[in-house]
Amino acid sequence: MVCGIVGVTTDEGFSQEPLGKIIKEALKKLEYRGYDSVGLAIVTNEGSLEIRKSRGMIDFVSRKLGFDSISGISGVGHTRWATHGRPSDENAHPHTDCSRRIAVVHNGIIENYKKLKEFLINEGHSFTSDTDTEVIPHLIESFKRKGYSTYEAFKKTIELLEGAYALAMIDLDEPEKIFFARKMSPLIVGLGNRSNFVASDIVAFIDYTRRVIVLTDGEIGYVTPSKVVIEKMIRKEGVITWVPIDIKSRIRSVEWSPEMASKEGYDFFMIKEIHEQPYALASTLSAVGESINEIARVLTRSERVLLLGAGTSYHATLITALLLRRYANLWAEAVIASESRWWLNALGQGDVVIGVSQSGETIDTLRGIREAKERGALTIAVTNVIESTIAREADMAVYIRAGPEIGVAATKTFTSQVALLSYLAVKTGELRGVLKPSLANEIYSALRETPNVVARILKDEEKKASVLADKMSVKNNAYYLGRGLGLPIAMEGALKMKEIAYVHAEAYPAGESKHGPIALVEKDFPVVFVILSKDEEELIKSNIEEMKARGAYAILVSPNNAEEALSLADFKFILPVQHEVASAVSYVIPLQLLAYYTAVKKGLDPDKPRNLAKTVTVF
Ligand code: F6R
Repeated sequence: MVCGIVGVTTDEGFSQEPLGKIIKEALKKLEYRGYDSVGLAIVTNEGSLEIRKSRGMIDFVSRKLGFDSISGISGVGHTRWATHGRPSDENAHPHTDCSRRIAVVHNGIIENYKKLKEFLINEGHSFTSDTDTEVIPHLIESFKRKGYSTYEAFKKTIELLEGAYALAMIDLDEPEKIFFARKMSPLIVGLGNRSNFVASDIVAFIDYTRRVIVLTDGEIGYVTPSKVVIEKMIRKEGVITWVPIDIKSRIRSVEWSPEMASKEGYDFFMIKEIHEQPYALASTLSAVGESINEIARVLTRSERVLLLGAGTSYHATLITALLLRRYANLWAEAVIASESRWWLNALGQGDVVIGVSQSGETIDTLRGIREAKERGALTIAVTNVIESTIAREADMAVYIRAGPEIGVAATKTFTSQVALLSYLAVKTGELRGVLKPSLANEIYSALRETPNVVARILKDEEKKASVLADKMSVKNNAYYLGRGLGLPIAMEGALKMKEIAYVHAEAYPAGESKHGPIALVEKDFPVVFVILSKDEEELIKSNIEEMKARGAYAILVSPNNAEEALSLADFKFILPVQHEVASAVSYVIPLQLLAYYTAVKKGLDPDKPRNLAKTVTVF
C-alpha cells in the first residue's frame, strides 16, 4: 500500500544512461516508502518488452537482473510492499497480460479484484501471481480484444476498479506512451525535457525536472515525451463521463533542488535532516504571513478546536492544543487521528478541525478531516507537501516549508510543524485579546531566534548525544518524563528511540510516573527528564529524586538556569534559556540525536526502520 511507482518516456538523445539505470535510480529515491520487492518493464530500442523483477532490495536485485544495462525508450518501475500475496518474485510488479505486451505497476488495493479475476479466468485468462494488481493488465487485454484502443481499454478498466490506486502502464502497441490513473494513492506527473515522468513522489524524478502536475482522485491520462493528456472521471447517477483537463493551469514548479533530495555526504538522511533544521525552521518561519493570520482569525471565531495527527504529527498537535488553551483561552484538544471518530460526532458547525500531517496523505488523518467536514466543522490542513490529499480536501491549507524529508523518522518536519503551529496559537491569543501585544511580540521574536538556537544546540550537543548513545545502545528500556509542554517533547523523544533504535522507551507525565511506572525502575534504568523552563524545576526535581532513590540513571534536558535540577542529573543536556514556546521547538534536538546515535551504534539503519513506512495509507 505504500509501494512506489515510476514511469518514464523519452525521446532519442534524452540521456546517455540506459533507461534501466534511470528507472533504478528513481526507484531508489522511493526506498523510504518501505518495500520488499522491486521490478521494471522497459520497451527496448528493438521493440520488445523487457520485464525483470524479484524479491529483495534494489541494489541486490538490480545487480542480479542487470537493470543498469537495459536500454529503451519508455518504461515503468515499482517497489512493492506486500498486501495481497506474500513477498515473492511472482508477486513483484510489473504484472502483465497473457500476451506479455502490457505491463502495469500499482500502488493501492483493488477491493473487487476477486470478482474481476473470476470473470477473467472464465474468459480464459491465466494468472501468474496472487496479487490484486494482475487483474488490471488482463482487463485491458480483454477490452483490447473486443476492439478498443489501448487508451479506451485502459479507461474501461479503470471504470471497473473499486479501491485505491496509483497506476502506471505501458503497452507495446503504443510504446512511447505511459498511461496512468490515480484514486486515493498519490501520483505526480513530471514534465521534463525530451521526456516525461509519472511517480508516487516528486523526489523520484527531481534530477530531471521540477515542473509537476499533482494528479487528483479520478484523473487518468498518458504522457509521451512531448505530450501530456489528462481527463477526469465524473460519475453521476451511475453514468460516467470523462472531462478533459487543462494542463497549463495545473503545472506547478517545486522549490526542491536535486541536492535537497540526496544525502549530501551524510551517512544517513536522518542525520542530514536533523542538521537541516535551522534552514527548515528559517524557511517555515519566513513564510509566516497572511495565510496563517487568516487561520488565526478563523480560530478566534471558533467554538472549539480539535487537532488531529498521527505519530510525530500528533505530538505537534499536543503542543498546539496546550498553547491554544494556555495563551488563547480557547477550548482545544489534540486527538490521535485514528481515534478521532470517538470525538468528531460531538462536533459540528462553529468548530474547527485541524489535520496535521507531514505527508498530507496519512489515511487516518484524512478520514478525520473528511468526517469533520461532513459534520459541518471547518477543516484546516497543515502539511509539508503541496497539493497533498489532505491539503486539497480541507477547507483551508497552510504549509510548513521543511523541504523533502526522506528518513522514515520525522525530524525537521516536527520542529517546523511546532514552530508554525506555535505562531498560530500565539497569534490567536493576541487576536482574542488574551495575550498582550508586548508578550506576543516577545514570543514571536523568540520563535524567530529558533533557527540560530537550534544551530547552536546541534553544535554543542551532538558529541554528547553520541557519548550517551554508548550507554543507551545496551539498554532495553527507558522512561521519558516531562510536564506541560515538556511532555509532548518527551513523547517525541521516546518515539524516536523506539522506532529507530528499538529500545522500549515509554513517555509519561512526570507527576504520574510514581503511580505505577516507577515499579520498573532499578539500578541504572535510564530516565530522561525534559524541562523547558525554570518554572517546572521545583516539581520535576522531586520526580528526579524519586527515580534516583530507586537507582535510576537520570538524564536531563534542561535550560541552563535550572541549576538545582541539573545538579541532580547523571547526564545533562544544558540548553539555552528561551521563552518556553521557543524551547518546545528546540529542546527535542538532543533527543533526536540520541535516538540516531543509539541506532547507529547498534548497527541499525535509521532511515529504514523495520516494519515502518514513511507514508501510511492503510487504516
Ligand atoms: C515518526 C513518524 C510517524 C509519522 C506518522 C504521521 O517518526 O514519522 O509517526 O509522524 O506516520 O505521518 P504524517 O505526518 O505524514 O501524517
